[in-house]
Amino acid sequence: MVNKENRRLKVGVLGCGPIAQFAHFESCQKGRNTDLYAICDFADDLRERMNAVWQPQVSYANYEAMLDDPLVEAVVIATADSFHVPMALQAVKAGKHVLIEKPLSHSLAECQALAEAAANTGVIIQVAHMKRFDPNIAFAKTFIDNRLGEMLAFKAWYCDSTHRYTIYRQLTTTSRTKQ
Ligand SMILES: NC(=O)c1ccc[n+]([C@@H]2O[C@H](COP(=O)([O-])OP(=O)(O)OC[C@H]3O[C@@H](n4cnc5c(N)ncnc54)[C@H](O)[C@@H]3O)[C@@H](O)[C@H]2O)c1
Repeated sequence: MVNKENRRLKVGVLGCGPIAQFAHFESCQKGRNTDLYAICDFADDLRERMNAVWQPQVSYANYEAMLDDPLVEAVVIATADSFHVPMALQAVKAGKHVLIEKPLSHSLAECQALAEAAANTGVIIQVAHMKRFDPNIAFAKTFIDNRLGEMLAFKAWYCDSTHRYTIYRQLTTTSRTKQ
């Protein structure tokens, strides 16, 4: 059980795909200072399913409509890579803080344009490089830096949960069967 703070950021998550399902919905709900206020996806069946599971206060089929909601304070952009910067620019224009899925963009110029658009607006932009905040990774980094001596070569593995693919397959199969 999470002890929620009184002041909580109302977050709207754009995109109900795998990464929203496996990371963002739960994080917003579990965060001490965040609420999963809104979700948005133009795929009706997926959005309705996620609405039933996560029960945000509102759900939107249209991103602009979510940005127009004055109660939304921050958005998570969990759509395909090529939409990240254009959608983040819309959020900045609407005065919403933005967490953007990685990679931010495939183009350096786009990244710079976003940084320029956000400068001096008071809007906070962050890319979801969440491993930088993972204590296990931080421990490994400190260990490598301080204990291993001079580095001659580096090879690493990262193991993720395999359950998420099974869950995703089940969701999409059910959704297809219903059509
Ligand atoms: N899936 C992962 O494990 C993972 C891990 C790390 C990073 N990412 C990154 O996260 C991003 C999203 O990944 P995903 O696998 O969830 O993508 P996805 O394409 O499966 O899901 C995106 C969802 O956004 C919706 N959408 C797209 N444009 C929209 C719009 N204009 N309005 C409303 N809804 C819209 C789509 O209908 C879709 O359901 C990608 O950039 C990916 O690189 C994913």
